[in-house]
Amino acid sequence: MIVLEAKAISKVYGGRGTARHQALDGVDLQVKEGEFVGIMGPSGSGKTTLLNILATIDEPTAGVVELKGTNPRQLQGDALALFRRRQLGFIFQDYNLLDTLTIKDNIILPLALDKVPVPEIMQKLKAVASSFNIEHILDKRPSQTSGGEQQRAATARALIHQPMLVLADEPTGNLDSKAAKELMEILGKTKSGMLL
Ligand SMILES: Nc1ncnc2c1ncn2[C@@H]1O[C@H](COP(=O)(O)OP(=O)(O)OP(=O)(O)O)[C@@H](O)[C@H]1O
Ligand SMILES: [Mg+2]
Repeated sequence: MIVLEAKAISKVYGGRGTARHQALDGVDLQVKEGEFVGIMGPSGSGKTTLLNILATIDEPTAGVVELKGTNPRQLQGDALALFRRRQLGFIFQDYNLLDTLTIKDNIILPLALDKVPVPEIMQKLKAVASSFNIEHILDKRPSQTSGGEQQRAATARALIHQPMLVLADEPTGNLDSKAAKELMEILGKTKSGMLL
């Protein structure tokens, strides 16, 4: 089963007065279910640009992205927002947790927004918290936890609703090598469906 298919993606920034920069030139990419794909390249080579386009956050200048056969660009307004929330998971370099919420409330946010029944939410929370070794920080706020703990919590949030695709832009960029290794090991397990 092909989860992601990107065809001939190009991205040109600027033009009309500002400097024109071709960040991507005809990128093809296919990702199948269960695959774990890393994109490598020097700074400025277009990794973030590509990821933002695959994540439907940004639009390509040319080319098409299909996620399980759907072109999210053809969805309108709320439908696109819902598609993103239900079908995709995002992990950012700087975690992006809300400090007004506890770690627990951050993690369950995607399910709470979708009005998933509370017992189901709690059962999924228990499963991800155990897999990510964050049971002891569920009632803390993000600023009261370590960077590694915050990123494991952010990853739990990205996975709790079992998205078809998880996108991560340098998720270990702010972590030391031990925390980075721990995160990658847990992420590696997710593809074999061991988490939920
Ligand atoms: N909004 C923008 N407007 C104009 N140019 C941009 C914009 N965003 C990125 N670029 C340019 O596009 C190119 C690719 O940038 P991108 O951020 O995708 O690189 P990257 O591979 O993620 O780099 P890094 O490893 O440093 O994160 C760079 O030359 C960058 O300067
Ligand atoms: Mg980048």
